[in-house]
Amino acid sequence: MKQKIAVYPGSFDPITFGHLDILMRGLELFDKIIIAVASNIEKNALFSVGERMELIGLAIDHDERVIIDTFGGLLVDYVKKVDARCVLRGLRAMSDFEYEFQMASMNRNLNKEMDTIFMMTSKDYFFLSSRTIKEVASFGGCVRDLVPPAVEKRLKEKFPLK
Ligand code: PNS
Repeated sequence: MKQKIAVYPGSFDPITFGHLDILMRGLELFDKIIIAVASNIEKNALFSVGERMELIGLAIDHDERVIIDTFGGLLVDYVKKVDARCVLRGLRAMSDFEYEFQMASMNRNLNKEMDTIFMMTSKDYFFLSSRTIKEVASFGGCVRDLVPPAVEKRLKEKFPLK
């Protein structure tokens, strides 16, 4: 039987417990999940693509159902290249909906065979985003409960306390 593969794309700058929550629950639905780190946000990113992929690897600690990869250009082209049909995305508050709806609709317009599957983020991580994590960490705030230990350590190195 053909394996059910999903692509979980994102910036992952850096990965948070919110992302991991979606990944773990996604693994209950799919045989394999390809985490696809977008390389085209490099200029504004805190972490390089290599660092982001490394931090994801440390967070999931070798699960053979998970592949960590990077992509540039259009997501639909990448999804086709890896022979997948589904894209997995997390939805937090209503505010995510409009952007996600636009993106999923545009992707479907570009490839009629592709579907985006949304999972609601668990309530513990509803407020969480990589952007706010970086902001809190940059001012020396504690993000221990919100990101994997390797991410917390790397954020402290990026934002040393003066
Ligand atoms: O974690 P993010 O930043 O919300 O992820 C957004 C991402 C990388 C999934 C999205 O920007 C994307 O797919 N970019 C690739 C370019 C693309 O295919 N755009 C068409 C959809 S409008």
